[in-house]
Amino acid sequence: MIYRNPMFIVKLGGSVITDKAKKCFFKQEVMDRLSLEIKKAGKKLILIHGAGSFGHIPAKKYRLNQGYIDQNQIRGFSLTHIMVQELNTMVLKSLQSQGLPAVSIPPHAILKLSDRRPIKTDLHMFRSYLNKHFLPVTFGDVVLDEKLGFSICSGDILLQILVEYFRPEKAVFVIDEDGLYSSNPKIDKNAVFIENAGIKDLKNLTTILDSHADVTQGMSGKIEVIKKIASLGVDTVLLNGNKNNRLYNILTGKNTKHTLIHGRIKTV
Ligand code: IPE
Repeated sequence: MIYRNPMFIVKLGGSVITDKAKKCFFKQEVMDRLSLEIKKAGKKLILIHGAGSFGHIPAKKYRLNQGYIDQNQIRGFSLTHIMVQELNTMVLKSLQSQGLPAVSIPPHAILKLSDRRPIKTDLHMFRSYLNKHFLPVTFGDVVLDEKLGFSICSGDILLQILVEYFRPEKAVFVIDEDGLYSSNPKIDKNAVFIENAGIKDLKNLTTILDSHADVTQGMSGKIEVIKKIASLGVDTVLLNGNKNNRLYNILTGKNTKHTLIHGRIKTV
């Protein structure tokens, strides 16, 4: 039996809580409903949120994921960081308004990357806050990178790191689709919904699922993260955050539409 911590790690995708096409457009109503669902569920969890149009637009403009190229990017780094912090404050306020004791843990202060991969992390603060019954919230951010000077740490990578550390009951991606499809449902009418999958079934999906104009890798990066989570024996759920109560239902073990990717359990 693999030990799993009785808690969840949930990532709210930037395309759910913001309009990715409009600069700094926060979807307040969607966020407030998700805050309420989290409150109603009453579970121990860590929340991560994506950057959406608050982060991707400036990060792309200043080519931040390519690392240091010119001095102008220093301003772009700071600007992008301020934008994602602003989004983070809106998320915290929404959670707080439902009575959730949300507290922000900014990634740039607790981890370092090298060539976009995490090399140094200090996650004990998440544990300390959880032990005191807080709701720790972190987010896709710009961070220092030993090789590139700086780069971007997506919320998906944060989810992977936190799952490795905490081994939760489930890792949950709240996205703007019902779950995984055989191809991109936004452009392919024949895309088939995948209810259940194992790590092997994900192998062919990396190439066919497109990523939108993101500075991070969009869906293909997500698939890589899900494979790593599954190899730790932790289940991943993908669900639609635009549909009422799907997050609540998953957190409370009720039936609801979603994709489940089974964690691979090694038997010795
Ligand atoms: C991106 O984070 C962070 C920045 C662009 C600074 P994510 O990759 O997790 O954001 P979403 O979910 O795609 O919006």
